[in-house]
Amino acid sequence: DDEEEEEEEKERSEEDDSEGSDSSEEDEEKAPEEEPTEEQQALTEEVKQKETEVKEEKKEDVKEETHKKEDCKPAVFIPVDRLPEIQEARLRLPILAEEQVIMEAVRENECVVLCGETGSGKTTQVPQFLYEAGYASSAGIIAVTEPRRVAAISMSQRVATEMNLPGRVVSYQIRYEGNVTEDTKIKFMTDGVLLKEIQKDFLLQKYSVVIIDEAHERSVYTDILIGLLSRIVPLRNKKGLPMKLIIMSATLRVEDFTENKRLFRSPPPVIKVEARQFAVTVHFNKRTQMDNYTGEAFRKICKIHRMLPPGSILVFLTGQAEVHSVCRRLRKAFPYRPSREHTDSMETDDLKKSKRAKKKNVSLPRINLDSYSVLPVDEGDEDRQAGIDEDDDEGSDLELELGDHPESDQEEKADPSIPLYVLPLYSLLAPEQQAKVFRPPPAGARLCVVATNVAETSLTIPGVKYVVDCGRVKKRFYDRVTGVSAFKVTWISQASANQRAGRAGRTEPGHCYRLYSSAVFGDFGLFSEAEITRRPVDDLVLQMKDLNIEKVVNFPFPTPPSSEALIAAEQLLISLGALEEPPRRGRLGAIERARLSCPITPLGRAMAAFPVAPRYAKMLALGRQQGCMPYVITIVAAMTVREIFEDYDRPAGSEEESTKMAGKKARSVQMRRLWAGQGQALQLGDLMVLLGAVGACEFAGCTRQFCEENGLRFKAMLEIRRLRGQLTNAVNAVCSDAGVYMDNKMAPPTESQVMFLRQIVLAGLGDHIARRVQAEELLDPKWRNGYKTPLLDDPVFIHPSSALNKTLPEFVVYQEVMETTKMYMKGVCAVQVEWIPRLLPQYCHFSLPEESPAPWYCPLIGRVKCQQQSTFFRVSWKLPAVEMD
Ligand code: CDP
Ligand code: MG
Repeated sequence: DDEEEEEEEKERSEEDDSEGSDSSEEDEEKAPEEEPTEEQQALTEEVKQKETEVKEEKKEDVKEETHKKEDCKPAVFIPVDRLPEIQEARLRLPILAEEQVIMEAVRENECVVLCGETGSGKTTQVPQFLYEAGYASSAGIIAVTEPRRVAAISMSQRVATEMNLPGRVVSYQIRYEGNVTEDTKIKFMTDGVLLKEIQKDFLLQKYSVVIIDEAHERSVYTDILIGLLSRIVPLRNKKGLPMKLIIMSATLRVEDFTENKRLFRSPPPVIKVEARQFAVTVHFNKRTQMDNYTGEAFRKICKIHRMLPPGSILVFLTGQAEVHSVCRRLRKAFPYRPSREHTDSMETDDLKKSKRAKKKNVSLPRINLDSYSVLPVDEGDEDRQAGIDEDDDEGSDLELELGDHPESDQEEKADPSIPLYVLPLYSLLAPEQQAKVFRPPPAGARLCVVATNVAETSLTIPGVKYVVDCGRVKKRFYDRVTGVSAFKVTWISQASANQRAGRAGRTEPGHCYRLYSSAVFGDFGLFSEAEITRRPVDDLVLQMKDLNIEKVVNFPFPTPPSSEALIAAEQLLISLGALEEPPRRGRLGAIERARLSCPITPLGRAMAAFPVAPRYAKMLALGRQQGCMPYVITIVAAMTVREIFEDYDRPAGSEEESTKMAGKKARSVQMRRLWAGQGQALQLGDLMVLLGAVGACEFAGCTRQFCEENGLRFKAMLEIRRLRGQLTNAVNAVCSDAGVYMDNKMAPPTESQVMFLRQIVLAGLGDHIARRVQAEELLDPKWRNGYKTPLLDDPVFIHPSSALNKTLPEFVVYQEVMETTKMYMKGVCAVQVEWIPRLLPQYCHFSLPEESPAPWYCPLIGRVKCQQQSTFFRVSWKLPAVEMD
C-alpha cells in the first residue's frame, strides 16, 4: 500500500512538474528578451496538431492515459540472468557504485549528463541499469547512439553477452545493416540512424530513453541530436509520453551542453563517475621527432618490450597505413608464430610457400615473410560513415611500407624469448579482427595494440600498462571558402594527450611515453575542436530543413558552426534547387540572407531522403530518365567510397617486388583506359572509369581474384555493391513507382545514356565547375594545362591518372579538389557549355531573349528549377578571368 501511495504521489508531482514547466514556458514566450523561441516554434509546428489531439483524448479517457503512463514508468525490477563471471567483472566497474545516484537523477530529470573515464562502464552498464529499472517496455525501448559503427556493433554484442540475451533483444542498427526485431529492448545505433528516425517520427515515440554516448567526441550528428532532443524531450513529457535523455561523456568538459541556455532552460545535473585510475607516469622525449615518428614509435616499443616488465602496450599513431607499417616491422623484429586459434583463415599462396620454405629451412625473400604477418584486413568494412572517417585516409591497405626502414630492423632484432603479439586497431578494421584486442593475448605473450585515434575513447583495451603516444592525429581539413580538402596530420590537444595517457592506468600503475617534448605539449590546444566547426555542413542543413527547421542559424547547436559555413551550405542548397531562392529585395548582406530561412523544395525533400551528400542526392533525384538510374546509383556509390583502385606507387621492398608492382601497375593503367572507353563514354571521364570498373567487376562475380588481377580494392568493391543495394532501396522508397531494381550485371550505358549521365552529373556537381585556361590567357607558366574555378585563385589540374588528362576538355566538373603536390581535381567529367544555363541557371547571367531561339536539347528541363524555363536566352556566363599580374 505504501508503495502504491508513493507511486501516486510521484505521479502527481510529475504532473505538477509538467504543468509548472508549461507556465514557465509561457512566461518565457512573453518575455521579449530573445529570439530562441522562434526555432522552437518551427520545431513544434509539425507536432502541434498531434498535441491538441492528444489533449482531447486525455480529457475523454483519463484512465487510459494514466494506464499508458504507468506502462512506461519504471515501476518494476526486470531481472537479468547474468553469468557469474560477468557479474563479478561488472561489480569491479566504478559505475556500479553510482547506479542508485544515476537512476535517481534519471527519474527526477528529463535530461542527465554523465561523465566518466573511458572504461568506467558507461556504455555497457547504463543501458542495463535502465533495462532493469523497467525503462524498456511496451511503451518504449532504450536507444543508444554511437558516433562510430564499430562501437554500435561491438557494444550491442557486449551488452547482449553481459545480459545473457540474444541479438534480437539487444540489437544494433547501422547504415547498412542491423539485427533489430520486434523483441528489441535495447537498440544501439549510429547517431546518423537516429537522426533519420527523427525525420520519420519527430517525437521518437518508440523510445522511452535516448542515450547519447561519446558526446565528448562532438561528432556533428551527435551535436544535432542533442539540439533536437533538447526540444523533443520536453514536448514528449508535456504530452504525457515521458522520455528521458542521457548524455554520456568521457571527459568533464560538458559546459557546451549544460551551460548552453539555448539548449536547456535549466542546466541538467552532471553526475561524475570516479574511475579507479592508477598513477600513470608520463615520460616526455627530450627532442621532438618531426617527421619520422613511426620510426620513433617502433624503437620505443622495442625498448619497452625488451626492458620493461610484462603488461600490454598501446600505441597511438595517425592512420591505417602507419598502423600496418609499424605492425609489420614489429612482427619482423619479434617474430611470433600464431597458434591455431589466432591464425587467420586466409592463407595466401605466399603464406603457404613461406611455411613450406620454413620447414625446409630455406631463407626467404622478404615479401613472403611479410605476407605471413599481414592480417586479412580486406574482410569487410563496416565503419564508413558518409565517407568522412578520420582514420580512413589513403585507404589502400597496401601502402603499408611507407616509412618502413628495413635497415634499422636489424639493430632492433631482439631475443624473441617473450613473444610480442601485435594487433592493429582502426575504425575500418573488420569487427571480428577488432574484437581480438579484447581477448587476452596467447599465454606468455605480450600484447601490443597499434591503433589510431579509435583507442583514445571509444574502445577500452584491458590490461594496458604502457602507452606510446605520437601526439598527432589525422584529420580531414576542409577549406570553407574554396571547398578544397586535404588530410593533415596535426598535433592533438592536451585533453586528448591526457586521455591517451589515462589508458595506461586502468588495472595497475602505468607509463605513458610521449614522443614529443614537454615544450611541444605546452603548445597544444587545451581541448579539441568540435567536428561541426571544421567541416562543410550542407548535408546537415538539408536534413534540418527537411525537419522543418527553417532558421538554421537559430538552432540550439551545442557549438554552433560558423555563420560562413551555414551560409555556404544554404547557398549551395539553393543553387542545387533544394531550397527556395530568397526574394531578391535589394542587396542583402550574407548574414541577412542566411536569416531569411529559405524553405525546402520538393526536390530538396527527395534529396534529403538519400543517405548521401546533397550533390550526389541531386543526381539520384534526377536520375530517373532514360533508364539512367542504375548507372547514377553506381556512380554515386563509387564516388562515396574512397579509393577503389589499388595504389602501386608505394616504394617496393625488394627488386622482385618492384618488378611485380610495375607489372601490376601497367595492367591497372591499361584496365582504366579500357574502362574509360571511347567517344561519348570517354567524355564521362573518371566517372565512366568507375562505372566500367564496377560493371566489369560485377560481370566477373565480384571476386577477390578479379580485383587483385585488375588493380581494384576488393573491400571497396564489396562496399560499392552494398551501397548500390541500399541506394536502390532508397530510390524506390522515395518514389514508389520508380521500379528500379538492382541488377548486379548491368549492360554498359548507350551513347545517349552517357550523355544524359553527363548532364545529370553536371546538375549535381555544378558548383564544382572548372574552365581550361586558354593559351591566350596564359601569362604565368604555372597556369599551363591549368583550370580556373569560380572560387580558387590558383589553378587546379587534371590528375595524370585521370581518363581526361590527355583530352583536357574546355569545361569539366569534378568531385572534389584534393591538395597533394598540386591541387588536383578528382572524379573529372567533361561537360558542354551550352548545358550550363539550362541546368545551372543560378550560376548564369542572362541577357534579354533573342529573336531566334537556339535549339536546346536537354532532357532534364522541368526537373530542375529554372526560372528562365520558358524563354530562350543568350548565355553570358563567365568564370572569373585569370588574374593578369
Ligand atoms: O563506456 P565506458 O568507456 O565508460 O566503458 P565501457 O565501454 O562500458 O566498458 C566497461 C568495461 O567493459 C571495460 O573495462 C572494458 O574493458 C570492458 N569491455 C570488455 O571487456 N569487452 C567489450 N567488448 C567491451 C567492454
Ligand atoms: Mg563508452
